[in-house]
Amino acid sequence: MTDVRSDDTRQAIEAEQATDASWWRQAAVYQIYPRSFADADGDGLGDLPGILSRVDYLASLSIDAIWLSPFYPSALADGGYDVADYRDVDPRLGTLDDFDKLIAALHERGIRVIVDIVPNHTSNLHEWFGEALAAGRGSAARERYIFRDGTGDGGEEPPTDWESVFGGPAWERVEDGQWYFHNFATEQPDLNWDHPEVREDFLRTLRFWSDRGVDGFRIDVAHMLTKDLSEPLPSRAELELIPQDGNHPLIDRDDVHEVYAEWRRVFDEYDPPRTAVAEAWVSTSERRAKYASAEGLGQAFNFDLLEADFDAAAFRTIIADNLAQAQATGSSTTWVLSNHDVTRHATRYGLPALAGRPVKQGTEWVAAGGPDDAIDRGRGLRRARAATLLLLGLPGSTYLYQGEELGLQEVAEIAAEQRQDPAFFRGGEFDGLGRDGCRVPLPWSADGASFGFGDAAAHLPQPAWFADHAVDVETADPESTLSLYREALGIRRLLQTEERLDWIETGRTDVLRLVRPNGWQVVANFGTDAFPLEAEEADRVVLGTAEDRSVPGETTVWIAPEGLLG
Ligand code: GLC
Repeated sequence: MTDVRSDDTRQAIEAEQATDASWWRQAAVYQIYPRSFADADGDGLGDLPGILSRVDYLASLSIDAIWLSPFYPSALADGGYDVADYRDVDPRLGTLDDFDKLIAALHERGIRVIVDIVPNHTSNLHEWFGEALAAGRGSAARERYIFRDGTGDGGEEPPTDWESVFGGPAWERVEDGQWYFHNFATEQPDLNWDHPEVREDFLRTLRFWSDRGVDGFRIDVAHMLTKDLSEPLPSRAELELIPQDGNHPLIDRDDVHEVYAEWRRVFDEYDPPRTAVAEAWVSTSERRAKYASAEGLGQAFNFDLLEADFDAAAFRTIIADNLAQAQATGSSTTWVLSNHDVTRHATRYGLPALAGRPVKQGTEWVAAGGPDDAIDRGRGLRRARAATLLLLGLPGSTYLYQGEELGLQEVAEIAAEQRQDPAFFRGGEFDGLGRDGCRVPLPWSADGASFGFGDAAAHLPQPAWFADHAVDVETADPESTLSLYREALGIRRLLQTEERLDWIETGRTDVLRLVRPNGWQVVANFGTDAFPLEAEEADRVVLGTAEDRSVPGETTVWIAPEGLLG
């Protein structure tokens, strides 16, 4: 393979990007789920010193930034998304001092750091919630949350029949008979965003981490903070009929953008300005664009591809739509195939019906945990590699999830009593099986207790087949998925200059071909028949997801511009 990585152009681009305030626009961001990355103290739970011990690994991936899922004090009722203190580190994961060391080590290697902010709800162990329970009904302390009296005789029934996202009722009764609202787990009471103290406290949190050198923030369920809970409250059936057009009582309300306008002013106090990316599962890409505006968070996750089939036409429509949207708003688009909330894409793409999410067959969920012979894992991985290489060649930022660079499949082999995800136990969204299967700690070596994750068994059980995907095994194999990611990310910055692409018609409905303004081409073959390249073009293929570069089925290649390879 031709080595383009020592090229002068690449060094020039890298130098420019290091000081660039718009570094986020086309960044490759690697998501770390801290409890499952690396365990330095041998308690079975990943921690910040564990991440620090793997900084060289992160640097070897040539990523631009990491996003750390929550590492704050938490009872882990929802994997850390139940935050008990927004301005500290969970003692099981380390200390603030460990955080400072980690950020310094990452910055030294040119890797930026994004942390997760969870503003919709706190943990029920947060100081405020303790105060709210102690202070009783009608108290000022309860105003920070959403407390209501029940209905029916003696208020025995919840205020409404609403369901939480994780399943089961969205209201929980407290000792004195009042009920509080929780969109997610019972241990995650929703905050009242009409309360000035709530607003002020989050500004303090943003400054706290920005002052510590954090470069950006990922905003959890950014579309749910503000609510209109004026009486009479609608029933669940009525709620479902209300359009999500900015005035829905609970979801994607227009007034949430006032919150983010205030946050933007805080981000802009810093040089370079802190960045943010919204997790907003909203109804249309137009609604999503509001979160990505320059006066707001600046960027938003685009989950369209994550929900799409492995299908050329679907990919093309989504890519074109999101690029147009980004251009219209001045933001840059984002691409995501996996994260800690969804079935890994190597498994999704191996499902019989090419559903973006696991599908139900009869009464069985066919996904991780479904009948194993229904999943073609080889095909799933082949397609996953092809889809990822296409994404990495597109304008905009790509968010990668730990373990996808090892080609990991979703782990099915987790007994019910070992599962942790509240969505599994409450039986709500997330397809019946919950999200533990993508959160199993990473395999670093083919042997050792917990495959090099730490010295003890990991907090979620790792299957025997993890050995084949261990970092040491894949590092030694030039054809491994890890080698593919390293090469692709190493070259990627060369492609990511102007944020544009042009489509080249292929005469095939199952093959996408695009060219970037600097001459780089990406050819993605979604079908099963090869798409032969001209000999001269085939010579310029510097990277591909299959050994044969003249493009077999379910394969993507990158073609260097003429003249670049000399
Ligand atoms: C987001 C997180 C998810 C969490 C939920 C509640 O969707 O990504 O993991 O369970 O918010 O905080």
